[in-house]
Amino acid sequence: MNNIILCGFMGSGKTVVGKELAKITGRRFVDTDELVEKKQGIPIKAIFEIYGEDFFRDLEHEVCLETAELKNTVISTGGGAVTFERNAKALRKGGRIVFLDADFDIICERIGENTNRPLFQDIDKARALYDERRPKYEAAADLTVDGSMSARKTALTIADFMKS
Ligand code: S3P
Repeated sequence: MNNIILCGFMGSGKTVVGKELAKITGRRFVDTDELVEKKQGIPIKAIFEIYGEDFFRDLEHEVCLETAELKNTVISTGGGAVTFERNAKALRKGGRIVFLDADFDIICERIGENTNRPLFQDIDKARALYDERRPKYEAAADLTVDGSMSARKTALTIADFMKS
């Protein structure tokens, strides 16, 4: 039960906070997107283009089941992962879920012109997805933290919570 699972929208800082948190707490760091890419041998963007989103979601689910078995690990999840109950349920068994809640404007600044994210191609659609998902992240999480803070501050807040 000692994994820390980071969830939140694309650009909420899961990877950078996760790496910092792993350092502070002496945990290993893994990223579900990276594991999906490794499994399929191609980038996420290509998985979406060639096979479609449903195929990606099944791979992501397999990876969530596998990472849930790890111990002493910080798990950074893809932006959609815990919005599916089957993933949240699996991951929760191995640790505590933390939601990095960043404002949409900050997310846009962080993502900038980066077009690698298949579900962040159109700003209005991304905003609608953000609004739809926020309550799902909140419902899945044991802790919600302000994702607008610096990565270091966010990581320290989460590390404190894990001691409780
Ligand atoms: C997705 C977010 C991405 C990646 C995929 C789908 C989503 O991860 O898993 O493009 O549904 O929000 P990041 O949150 O790391 O960008």
